[in-house]
Parts: sequence; C-alpha cells; structure tokens
Amino acid sequence: MAGVVTLRGVCGIVGYVGHRQALDVVLGGLHRMEYRGYDSAGVAMATGGQTLTVERRAGRLANLESAVEATGRDAFAGTAGMGHTRWATHGPPVDRNSHPHRDATGRVAVVHNGIIENFAALRAELEASGVELSSDTDTETTAHLIARAYADGETAGDLPASVRSVCRRLEGAFTLVVTHADQPDLVVAARRSSPLVVGVGEAEMFVASDVAAFIEHTRDAVELGQDQLVVIGRDGYEITDFAGDTAEGKPFTVDWDLSAAEKGGHEYFMLKEIEEQPEALANTLRGHFQDGLVVLDEQRISDQDLRDVDKVFVVACGSAYHSGLVAKYAIEHWCRLPVEVELASEFRYRDPVLDRDTLVVAVSQSGETADTLEAVRHAREQKARVLAVCNTNGAQIPRESDAVLYTHAGPEIGVASTKAFLAQVAANYLVGLALAQARGTKYPDEVAGEFAELEAMSSAVHKTLETLEQVRGLGRRLAESKAVLFLGRHVGYPVALEGALKLKELAYMHAEGFAAGELKHGPIALIEDDLPVVVVMPSPKGRAVLHSKLVSNISEIQARGARTIVIAEEGDDRVRPFADELVEIPAVPTLLQPLVSTVPLQVLAAEIARARGFDVDKPRNLAKSVTVE
Ligand code: G6P
Repeated sequence: MAGVVTLRGVCGIVGYVGHRQALDVVLGGLHRMEYRGYDSAGVAMATGGQTLTVERRAGRLANLESAVEATGRDAFAGTAGMGHTRWATHGPPVDRNSHPHRDATGRVAVVHNGIIENFAALRAELEASGVELSSDTDTETTAHLIARAYADGETAGDLPASVRSVCRRLEGAFTLVVTHADQPDLVVAARRSSPLVVGVGEAEMFVASDVAAFIEHTRDAVELGQDQLVVIGRDGYEITDFAGDTAEGKPFTVDWDLSAAEKGGHEYFMLKEIEEQPEALANTLRGHFQDGLVVLDEQRISDQDLRDVDKVFVVACGSAYHSGLVAKYAIEHWCRLPVEVELASEFRYRDPVLDRDTLVVAVSQSGETADTLEAVRHAREQKARVLAVCNTNGAQIPRESDAVLYTHAGPEIGVASTKAFLAQVAANYLVGLALAQARGTKYPDEVAGEFAELEAMSSAVHKTLETLEQVRGLGRRLAESKAVLFLGRHVGYPVALEGALKLKELAYMHAEGFAAGELKHGPIALIEDDLPVVVVMPSPKGRAVLHSKLVSNISEIQARGARTIVIAEEGDDRVRPFADELVEIPAVPTLLQPLVSTVPLQVLAAEIARARGFDVDKPRNLAKSVTVE
C-alpha cells in the first residue's frame, strides 16, 4: 500500500451495496473497526420501504446489536446500508446524538466523520425555515439539507447531485455517507480532509473510513481524493468532484492482514498515533476559531467571568501535566496572568488559594483520571471556575466543569500518550488565546495571527515526521544504555520531562528530564563517559540568550564525556560542533516549538523500547486511564 495516505478519522464508517444482507456486512465492518474506540454506534438499512430502518445506541456495539435483535433482524432486511461508530465531537455520547442522523421524514440518513465548522450557521438557517433538529450534532444539519436538495430545485430526485450541492456549502472536514429510502440500490459517500476508501468486490461494493472494515471481503480498494464523491452500486462505483465532473480515485491493493490494517500498517497503535499527529492537531484547532474569535466547545460561565480571572492553575497528571507546563509559558506571556501548574494528585492535599476569580484548567485525555477529577471537585468547592481540556466527549471531568475545550485527537489506544499530548498542548494554547482575547491583552489581529501560526504547526509536525529515520537508527543504538538524561530550557524544559517520561514508560529505562540551568546544581554529577544526554535546543533566532546558555551547557557536559544528542532547529550551526548526534527540526515560533520537538523524543523512546523487545502499546504496570487515586 505504499504511497497511500492512511488518514484516520475519529469515527468509523462503513457503507455497503451488494448481494448479501447489508446488516451482516455492516455490523461485521463495525466490529473490525472496534479497535479504534468509540462511544456509540448505529446502522441505517435501505429495505425498499417508505423509510430507512435505523437503530443507534450509546455505548458498546453489543448495545446496538441487542436493540437490532429486539426490533427483529427482518426489519433491517436489504442489500444496501451503512453503519457508524462515533467518537463524539459535537454533543455528548447519548442515543440521540448517535449516527445515523435523519431528516424529518426518515427517508434520508447520514453518517459522518469529521467536524463541520459552519454547522451553527447551517443549523440557524434550518431552524429559521421551521426545521426541528433532534440532536446536538453538526451532522444532523447535513441530513436535513440533503433532504431539502433532493425534494426540489435543480437537484430534485438526484441523490448524488443533492449531496454534492450540500458538500459545496460545508466548511471543515468530513466524510459523509448517505442513503435515501427512494434509492435502495445505492449509497453515496463524499470526503473532504477526512478518510474515505472504496472496497471493490464481486457484485458488491463498500465504502469505509478504514480498510479494516472490508478486508475480509475484498482487498481491491480505491482511495478517494480531496473533495470527491463516490456513488456505489452493486456492480460498480463512480467518482466525481463536488462540481459533478468525473474524477479518479487512487486504486491500490491492501496487502496487510487485519491486525496490520487496524494499525495502519504499523506494528503498534502508538506508532500509528505518532503518525496521526498532524491530523490530530488540525482537528483540535478546527472549529475553535470563528469570525475572528477563539471559541470553546462549552461555556457555562460568562465572558465577564473569564475577563475577571486573575490567576490560573493547570491541574493534570502524566503527559497532560507536561502539556500544562508548556502552556504556562504561553499563557503568562499572552495574558499577563500568573499560572501555576500542579500535579493533580498534589493539588487538593495542600491548601491552594482559590476563589471565584481563579481559573483551574483541568487537562485530561480520558476525562476520567481520578486525581484530576478530585482536583476539579476541590476547586469547585472553593468556588474557582473550572475549564476542562479533554479528548473524550461527555466524560466526567468535562461534565463537572464550567467550560470545556475538546481536543478532538480521536481515540488513543497506545497507553503512553502521543497524539493526545500534542493536541493538549495545542488546546492549552487555545485556552491562552481565549483568555488573552477576553482580557484584551492581545489585539484581535494578534489573536488571529497566533491562531494562524498554530494552524501551520500541523504541516511542521508532518515535516518533522518525514525526517525521523536517523532517530530510529539512534534508538536502536541506544537500546543497551543504562540511562538517558534530557535537558531543556524555557518550553524545552517540559519537552525534556515528556521525553524522559516516554522513555521510562516504554523502554523501562532510567530517564530524567532537567531544566538545563539546574545542571550545575546537581545533575552534572551524573555525567560520565558515554552517558546519552538529549538536549532540546531553543531556536537561535527566537531567544538568543537562551540559545547561548544551552550551548554552554552542552559544551560542559560534552567536556565531561556525555554523548550529546541535540534536537535543534534546522540551520542551527552554532550548536553543531557540540552535537555528537544532531536531529534537525523545522524552524517554528518559540512558544510552539514543543509541538515539533516532542515528536523525535516519542519516536526515540518507541524505538528503544522495540529494540529492547517491549510491547510499546501496553507498557508493564501502566493503565491508559487511572480511575483510582
Ligand atoms: C496515565 C496514562 C498517561 C496519561 C495520564 C493522564 O498515566 O498512562 O499516558 O498521560 O494517565 O491521563 P489523562 O487521561 O488524564 O490525560
């Protein structure tokens, strides 16, 4: 499958038209995508009746299957249909927000992966014309719009044309799969920035967000290009662009087995998740800057309350804590507010000074970490406001918070956080911009400029990922080391901590991260011949004084025999003589460098762990989500 982009969406999608019972194929496909994690699931079947037969349930696939059995499988009989597993973006994971979504007549159904950024405007337009929406999702708007386009006007009676006309109006990222009760022999699917592949079988066709959904039936696949639409029927498929002109997809043969397909061809989920980071970053930012303003996902406090904030605490555990340490530099700089970053497990056992003008930012991938949850409860008891940064829609921490920013990194399966961490860093920056905006410490054009720089980080991370062969080789060579030290200054310091944590978690190797300035106060005593020391260099152009100080630190440790592994901006010639191994990263703004400098450290830790023969997805003694204090 060389050359095929393996974009992973947040939700799992499968559509089918063929000679078998679509329900069996679709449920089978949903099971194959179960590995991705999801919070609800649903199916829609074209049975030839007046309406589609739809079932959807929050929770496990088993919940959906029980509901299908309770209705009776006969009600779903038909050879075309689709299904969906959801990782909630808009609206909590409850039955009414589960996909498929329908129009008012129940004749059109849509499943969706992605984020429709202009959904609020579309929703308002529909409501103004008398449409009642029954969910909180961005997706439901598309079902109503498609139904309207199909009902009259120049696309009347033409489902592909109706879908195209709606796609042209959508902003954001989406894979949409659409069925219509009037068209029980075809399924229409469209994509922009989200993944979509067609599976080409014998007298049966599939569409899916992930080849894992259909590889037990066919290995012939076609990847759709950007802004393309496909119509599948039993005997073939037809691709057009959104204007309706014929287009071509990219055919390929899937040569992975199921296990490799689930991991996007990687040996471990974590390696796939590292690769997904550009997409995770883009998804986290998507929809959070509208009409020149940073917007949160949920805000149950007034703008005035945000303006009145006079102190910020970030509370979190593990990698999420490190994301908070990074954010401190940005929030203090942008907002001129004091920021303290606390390990959630320590927070409530001392006596933090909190009041209603304190903002506690609780950062948690899972939204269920007990230490962080208890810190949130403690903060609220003290009348502080709580803003959750979370990757799991509807989890306990966002439910108990006054405001929420979701990271939209998608499910993370590897126990050690990678893409969720990068997404947390980006989301924390958004919190900083939201506060700067509320407090007026930045002009609107400055906020817009910072946001644009954040957006550009997705491609900087992509570029970083393309140059990591050297780090992999280095990882293999370091596999026998006894210990590795990590040094950084400014935002490079939390990156050093995160690099050390990754190495401990994955490779069970002694690793410590230090603020480079602290070297002379103790850690330098650890330096001995050949000890690998990873140094995260700041940009020479960003803050020259920091750069010079770190160059001195490196020369000190090199003189004492350390093996220096230097992560530095491309073109940083001053540091080159002091680097036994130089890993170059793209030049990016000073505060945003952690988004690129963390990436080689993740890969380094994973590679050392693999070389030592460890399962990087499931490190010993660790759990993905720790729900006990
Ligand atoms: C566990 C995981 C870490 C994670 C930490 C916080 O220790 O192994 O990867 O960073 O919990 O998890 P949270 O879900 O709150 O971000």
